[in-house]
Amino acid sequence: MASPTTIHYYTCITFLLIFCVCITTLQATSRTYPEVSMKQKHEQWIARHGRMYADPAEKERRFKIFKDNVAFIESFNNNGTRSYKLGVNAFADMTREEFRASNTGGYWRSHQETGLRANQVQRFKYENVSMDEVQPSMDWRDRGAVTPVKDQNPCGCCWAFAAVAATEGITYIKTGNLISLSEQELVDCDTNSIGCKGGLAANAYQFMVNKGGITTESNYPYRKADGFSCNADDAGPITASIDSFEYVPPNNENALLAAVANQPVSVRVNGDSFQFYKNGIFSGDCDTRLNHAVTAVGYGTADDGMKYWLVKNSWGAGFGENGYIRMQRDIDAAEGLCGIAKQPTYPVKN
Ligand SMILES: *[C@@H]1O[C@H](CO)[C@@H](O)[C@H](O)[C@H]1NC(C)=O
Ligand SMILES: *[C@@H]1O[C@H](CO)[C@@H](O)[C@H](O)[C@H]1NC(C)=O
Repeated sequence: MASPTTIHYYTCITFLLIFCVCITTLQATSRTYPEVSMKQKHEQWIARHGRMYADPAEKERRFKIFKDNVAFIESFNNNGTRSYKLGVNAFADMTREEFRASNTGGYWRSHQETGLRANQVQRFKYENVSMDEVQPSMDWRDRGAVTPVKDQNPCGCCWAFAAVAATEGITYIKTGNLISLSEQELVDCDTNSIGCKGGLAANAYQFMVNKGGITTESNYPYRKADGFSCNADDAGPITASIDSFEYVPPNNENALLAAVANQPVSVRVNGDSFQFYKNGIFSGDCDTRLNHAVTAVGYGTADDGMKYWLVKNSWGAGFGENGYIRMQRDIDAAEGLCGIAKQPTYPVKN
């Protein structure tokens, strides 16, 4: 049973993705030069992602990393036994160590959950849901409970996006209204989190409980930065409210399944190895130290029998499968792939 008194959290992974791909140019080029050299590939990638290097030495250093990454991605993709594919995306000139350091920042702090009421930590409203009652698959997008994929970049406030997506879900389930809600209100006003430097969905839920709710995205738009004063009272009326929030019992994928069968759930994961994820069911080697927050909005089983979680990310629609990642479900380790079952939280609306 979850009764964490101390939760460590790292800053959210932040990505800067640029989606302006000059497809026509690339197609023309590859027709003219069927074997585009690696240098040309790098140049095209630089243009596509608007990358700038300080000097030729830096460019040469980045080229070597790019070349190694492309070789890794191609050899990975040529291994027919994998359940997912990688792609040469915006992080293709970063080493794994750099990716981890710059995107998880090494930043973390302990958080005393002094503000949480005991029942919010101990109660799990889906504890009696039997696995026999749970539908074999669920996609809350098909039910109309999920807003389009958003983009947190370049601010590390994944926690706000994860909390908002789950709140949009329960609001739709309870009221029939799908309303895009404000992450910026949480970034500016939830003083238990630290804006772009990290936070917890649980803190965001606590903020909503205390305040009575949050307003809409359009009333209080996302600004991709923190440091603004909390403007919630001027920004517009409270649009969505929750009554409380609860933790899913940790390290229990069946409990998580019971919850996600009933509503979208915010989950924490290690996002390091999402670096090159393109499509398929992610089953990669994964650390379970939590540094990223996302929202489980469904689950299913692929034709080959592999079970997966359907996860909404907040790195724009250019990441993964139109902004989503499917992650392998029901693995041997109790904490789940990338720690997905370690600390799920969901908002409660009566
Ligand atoms: C292909 O993938 C399998 C399963 O993960 C792995 O055991 C094997 O080493 C890989 N082969 C290559 C050439 O990467
Ligand atoms: C689950 O069932 C037990 C036994 O009937 C009951 O005491 C408990 O309140 C139930 N839990 C919830 C969340 O309804």
